[in-house]
Amino acid sequence: MKILVIGGGGREHAIVWKAAQSPKVNKIYCAPGNAGIAALAECVNIGVMDFEKQVEFAKANQIDLVVVAPDDPLAAGAVDAMEAAGIRAFGPRKNAAVLEGSKAFSKDLMKKYGIPTAAYETFDRPEEALDYLETAPMPIVLKADGLALGKGVLICRNREEAKEGVKTLMLDKQFGSAGDRIVVEQFMTGREVSVLSFVDGKTIRVMTSAQDHKRARDGDQGLNTGGMGTFSPSPFYTEEISRYCMEHIFQPTVDAMRAEGREFKGVIFFGLMLTEDGPRVLEYNARFGDPETQVVLPRMKNDIIDVFEACIDGTLDQIELEFEDNAAVCVVLASNGYPEHYEKGFVISGLEKFDGKDGYYVFHAGSKFDDKGNIVTNGGRVLGVTALGSNLKEARTNAYEAAEWIRFDNKYMRHDIGKAIDEA
Ligand code: GLY
Repeated sequence: MKILVIGGGGREHAIVWKAAQSPKVNKIYCAPGNAGIAALAECVNIGVMDFEKQVEFAKANQIDLVVVAPDDPLAAGAVDAMEAAGIRAFGPRKNAAVLEGSKAFSKDLMKKYGIPTAAYETFDRPEEALDYLETAPMPIVLKADGLALGKGVLICRNREEAKEGVKTLMLDKQFGSAGDRIVVEQFMTGREVSVLSFVDGKTIRVMTSAQDHKRARDGDQGLNTGGMGTFSPSPFYTEEISRYCMEHIFQPTVDAMRAEGREFKGVIFFGLMLTEDGPRVLEYNARFGDPETQVVLPRMKNDIIDVFEACIDGTLDQIELEFEDNAAVCVVLASNGYPEHYEKGFVISGLEKFDGKDGYYVFHAGSKFDDKGNIVTNGGRVLGVTALGSNLKEARTNAYEAAEWIRFDNKYMRHDIGKAIDEA
């Protein structure tokens, strides 16, 4: 079987790595891929939003399955474009990817179907949002309605910050048209958990849990990023919580999408908060999380191609997901200055230290070959170093040990990934 993975970050590297283990797969292409992915797949210089070229390539190369990983192409209809050309594709169609593509849509869906989430109001006009904020209880959360690279969420401690937030999103348009509409949401406290799941339109199979670290600096300080590290499983996500979520959140979401005529096939990523009043949905994503995927897939026992196909064919009820009884920690190695200004093009050394070492992985997020054939940094998040362990503490020790094997100028990482493990 020949597959084409769309995307070029750490998530896609983990997907390609997992797909490469399937005995069904004999060739993998990745568009555009990166220098790490190039060890497992043929990288093709086609952008993630260039559907026309993707379809042309898939037809010319008789691709059996396309996996669309990032949010932007999913929201813009990459899977619809493939299907229209008669190509099998894994991921939600445009009318279902709206679950992530519009925060207002997802909040309205949860309200309509009684799925637990924070109270909210939606605003299309900045003056109405500002009026509302005159009396709304603080702190409060402002979310750009559209996709904003995971950064369109502002937590405002007081009225001044909230008003400034409206200006940032709606008037200054820091996230472009994503901020034309905003959702203003009650602030919740509790532990965050990421739960990824496979969905075939009606059946949902939940993967093992994980936790991300979104802030750039130790102690959850600094700006929001795409994610600086993850661990899996979350020790706070108990069997009891999992049962509650299946009954009140996971299956109801799949059923709600179906009832709305927006059958969801692909991955739903539930961003949850475990509040004093029970689990609440913070956000939905319509794709694998990054870097969650880098700790979840190394623990998954199933052949991922079987699962992708079952989602497309509506036969997921015949699959049970299985995960190793171990733990994984991923530490992201970034370029200092991320997520704002950072330099690129520094030679990365030490990658060969991962060769042949079971339970240690280096997933490339932003890397490329320079004209001398060196692998160099090519993004804010550069690498995800993942290690397994028999428990979370061992996995964390292993991941931080492996993070030291890598060298590049301006290398930056958080030193407290998985600190919450000590409180479990
Ligand atoms: N780790 C969060 C995300 O993938 O959006």
